[in-house]
Amino acid sequence: MRHSIVAGNWKMHKTYSETHTLLDELIEKLPSGKEVEVIVAPTFVNLASAVAHLEGTNVQVAAQNMHQAEGGAFTGEISAQMLTSIGVETVIIGHSERRHFFHETDAILADKVNTALRHNMRVIYCIGEELKDRENKQFLNVIFNQLRDGLFHLTKEQWSNIVIAYEPVWAIGTGMTASPEQAQEIHAFIRQEIDRKYDKSVAENTSILYGGSVKPSNAQEIFSKPDVDGGLIGGAALVADDFVAIVNAAN
Ligand code: G3P
Repeated sequence: MRHSIVAGNWKMHKTYSETHTLLDELIEKLPSGKEVEVIVAPTFVNLASAVAHLEGTNVQVAAQNMHQAEGGAFTGEISAQMLTSIGVETVIIGHSERRHFFHETDAILADKVNTALRHNMRVIYCIGEELKDRENKQFLNVIFNQLRDGLFHLTKEQWSNIVIAYEPVWAIGTGMTASPEQAQEIHAFIRQEIDRKYDKSVAENTSILYGGSVKPSNAQEIFSKPDVDGGLIGGAALVADDFVAIVNAAN
């Protein structure tokens, strides 16, 4: 069901003790209301202790990735059932850094989505164009292809466990945030394509988050756009006051 979500993608940051120091701060400072769903995505090694730390709070825990296989000889990888066995029910799939540095194709990502849904997990599926795609005006094609090749094989029912994160690659970690108008244009396009493929109900019930240099200074304006349902936050999620300010902006 579509609702407001602010998720912190911690990427490869925070040791065990740093993780729990930040979680203590977030528990103290986050608003207690339930209008916005708050998610944190620490690294794999800190997921189980983060779930325990956040027990009894409104803060959810997500994984930043998972492997598509059920298990086996995949050194260094993590399976869906390993995540659900420690209480992690949400997973980020298709982040541009996974696509770029780890060569995860749309086909691999579709496999990961299938496995996550088979374990009744919720998927935050990342899509977004590179700067060259925007400069050569191919960005709508790129975004549509990522949607089609990663998700459009799913049934309507399966879309109840899908959240989309639109993250223009050129805005990630650069301080070059997409303008609220740019974000709204793409979010509306994504929703329109989901409507075209499925129906208005699926389109209107899918949360679409924006990611890419969201900061306390720009969050409110971006989140105020009609097709923006919150954010997937990188750098600002690592600083309690900044992340809390962004959550408050979504409220
Ligand atoms: O997944 C969210 C992340 O890619 C955005 O990073 O640092 O631009 O907020 P950042």
